[in-house]
Amino acid sequence: MADQWARTGWDLHLRIDREHGRRHGLEQALREAVRSGRLAPGDRLPSSRALAQELGFARGTVTQVYEQLAAEGYLTARPRSGMLVAPRHGPAPRPELPPTGPFRPPVPGFDLRPGLPDLSMFPRREWLAATRHVLQTMPNDALAYGDPTGSRELRAALADYLGRARGVITAPSNIIVCAGYTHALRLILMVAGQTVAFEDPTLLDYPALAGHLGHRVRRVPVDADGLVVDDLGDAAAVVLTPAHQFPLGVTLGPQRRVQLLDWARRTGAVVVEDDYDGEFRYDRQPVGALQGLAPEHVVYTGTVSKTVAPALRIAWIAAPTALVPALREAMRYDEAYVNVIDQLALAHMIRRGDLDRHLRRCRLRYRKRRDHLGHAVAARLPGARLSGIAAGLHAVLHLPASTGTESEILAHLSDRGIAVDGLSRFYSRPQDSPLGIVVGYATPPQHAYDSAIDTLTSTLAPREPERLAASPPARQPASPPARQPASSATRRADRRAAPRRAQGRFARARVLDPACGTANVSTSGVTPIQVRNVEAASIY
Ligand SMILES: Cc1ncc(COP(=O)(O)O)c(C=O)c1O
Repeated sequence: MADQWARTGWDLHLRIDREHGRRHGLEQALREAVRSGRLAPGDRLPSSRALAQELGFARGTVTQVYEQLAAEGYLTARPRSGMLVAPRHGPAPRPELPPTGPFRPPVPGFDLRPGLPDLSMFPRREWLAATRHVLQTMPNDALAYGDPTGSRELRAALADYLGRARGVITAPSNIIVCAGYTHALRLILMVAGQTVAFEDPTLLDYPALAGHLGHRVRRVPVDADGLVVDDLGDAAAVVLTPAHQFPLGVTLGPQRRVQLLDWARRTGAVVVEDDYDGEFRYDRQPVGALQGLAPEHVVYTGTVSKTVAPALRIAWIAAPTALVPALREAMRYDEAYVNVIDQLALAHMIRRGDLDRHLRRCRLRYRKRRDHLGHAVAARLPGARLSGIAAGLHAVLHLPASTGTESEILAHLSDRGIAVDGLSRFYSRPQDSPLGIVVGYATPPQHAYDSAIDTLTSTLAPREPERLAASPPARQPASPPARQPASSATRRADRRAAPRRAQGRFARARVLDPACGTANVSTSGVTPIQVRNVEAASIY
């Protein structure tokens, strides 16, 4: 049996068995192609002349085959279109797999899930100009396989940019360009030891990846100062988000940084810094990368997914020199190189300052959105508080228990066309999660943002009497201060102090029952009511 390609305008692969003659062989081959679904209803066949020429058959042979298959119902002749595969009756023989879709399917209504920047801000003009420049100037050699660790131009541009913008101490030879953070993490895990620690809460995909690769996974709690270093034990590596913990948004405190690096020096463990949104810092001084404090112990990772767009699939590792050979070796088995033209375009944008200009525009927009969210929460959601708002593209909205359970809240929001993530989905034990939702405020397009926040807050707003008692509008500051999640000890102390604080906040309120964590307050002219979650109510 011979495999033959007919290339009459389009390729048609036929397995023609000539043992019983050409005509029989061609008939069988076409029947098989239609039955198996390789040729679908409506597909056009080559003209008899063209096919005969391609196959080296007499034209009459092909014509006879077409007539025979038309008589059997496989083919049908259409004026001016030639011979088509006939419409099929009955179920399609083609094996059907479930359709694939995007990693994060779009949702109807307002998408306030964390994870995406405002994609309408993609710097199209600059990217187009950079790509044009690259295509006009790159030598032909650059179109070959290239360097698996990334193009030299991008690695050099990144080394300069990361030093300048994030305080990373590195060199082009220490940088590996990856196809997204997950790829970077996979490479790092391939050279990491057996036990790998992850923050709790975190994006579950990452510990799941480590488990999939055969690591023992340890989840380490996070408090108001970030990762609880004391709980790291004998882990061989720890993966964390020091600048803006995902999802809680706390920053790894100065003491914890020192403690973590001491631990790494003492044990030889690897610290993996996921600096996924470090470029977006709004209020305080920028928080530099942890890597800058100990370049030989920290594997720094960054990505363009928040700053430019996830679709580019460009991320990077800045590795300690001692780890570079092992990472390069790991790349031999993990060939997920990034398109060189895109790498060069990004390098060009960095060199020209286009990336910095783009980031300034984004920062301005996201800060306004963050402020808008803060005002709306302060005005409409007494008893709620936002955390993690000093940086990044998302915040956690902690809600009083009176709002309902997390699943009730998510269902209620979904009914009103709002998609957010519940905080519990990021915890190893969802039942340990405080009540809250993660609000990604960068995602909606600009024109939809105000409506999205309006719908979010009006859906969560409590009944009128509670609002009156818990948050008199006149007392609200213009922009709510960030308040970080507390450690359990701090939480206990907070609960004890809560009734006293409630009294302090409400000038004319009286604490009637200083029970732990709740207070009965009476404001002048309003019936005494119980304010639940006083710790939260006292924030604004
Ligand atoms: C915590 C965290 N790290 C890293 C990333 C970046 O991932 P990638 O570069 O694969 O898009 C994300 C994206 O959502 C994230 O949430």
